[in-house]
Amino acid sequence: MEKLELLYEGKAKKVFKTEDPDVLIVDYKDDATAFNGLKKGTIVGKGAINNRMTNYVFKLLEKEGVPTHLVEELSDRETAVKKVEIVPLEVIIRNIAAGSFSKKLGIEEGTPLLQPTLEFSYKNDDLGDPFINSYYALALGLATQEEIDKITKMAFKVNEVMKKFFAEAGIELVDFKIEFGRYKGDIILADEVSPDTCRLWDINTHEKLDKDRFRRDMGGVEDAYQEVFKRIGLA
Ligand code: TMP
Repeated sequence: MEKLELLYEGKAKKVFKTEDPDVLIVDYKDDATAFNGLKKGTIVGKGAINNRMTNYVFKLLEKEGVPTHLVEELSDRETAVKKVEIVPLEVIIRNIAAGSFSKKLGIEEGTPLLQPTLEFSYKNDDLGDPFINSYYALALGLATQEEIDKITKMAFKVNEVMKKFFAEAGIELVDFKIEFGRYKGDIILADEVSPDTCRLWDINTHEKLDKDRFRRDMGGVEDAYQEVFKRIGLA
């Protein structure tokens, strides 16, 4: 399978057309941004780590009954995926208080939640991905009730599978963001699952092993990505 014209370049990936109209190739970059692109940098090796980690987790999720856009890993950085229409919702699941949740609610980072939470952001860079609820999503025509129900169920299932997977690697799954796509009348998991899109903490020391090290200028960013990669057995 070969890359044809560039369809879209995002903050972390390029997307190319292929000869198959139902298949695209994503090419993961080492570029990192935060705060809606305000902060820019490079995390050396990130593209390959995020690509291979996403594919590994997506294969596991498929086995557990969660359909994904994965077709085939083509190289360290490139993967063939089903061409979906992205549902313009960022779906965020939290197990432990951190980030915007802690800030908004005045709850110390690291406080375990009594049950996982789910929230939606409207995927819109111009607006800075504002927090919305399912009524807003319905009112704006971003998704149907049936789609929201499917997405909610799948997101909690993804959480259960990933929590267990990371725990076995000595990693606590604090929270994560996922995206879904429409494909041939169904909803499937799309985009990526990586230290860019998950908060991952050492299960014992609670050391941050994710993009917060970049967002918060903590240093040791590359080492943290490598550590996750090693612990899940991919390095
Ligand atoms: P938050 O606490 O800043 O709302 O982030 C929640 C989770 O979503 C966290 O795991 C990081 C991830 N995330 C993204 O993947 N992309 C984003 O643009 C933001 C703001 C968060």
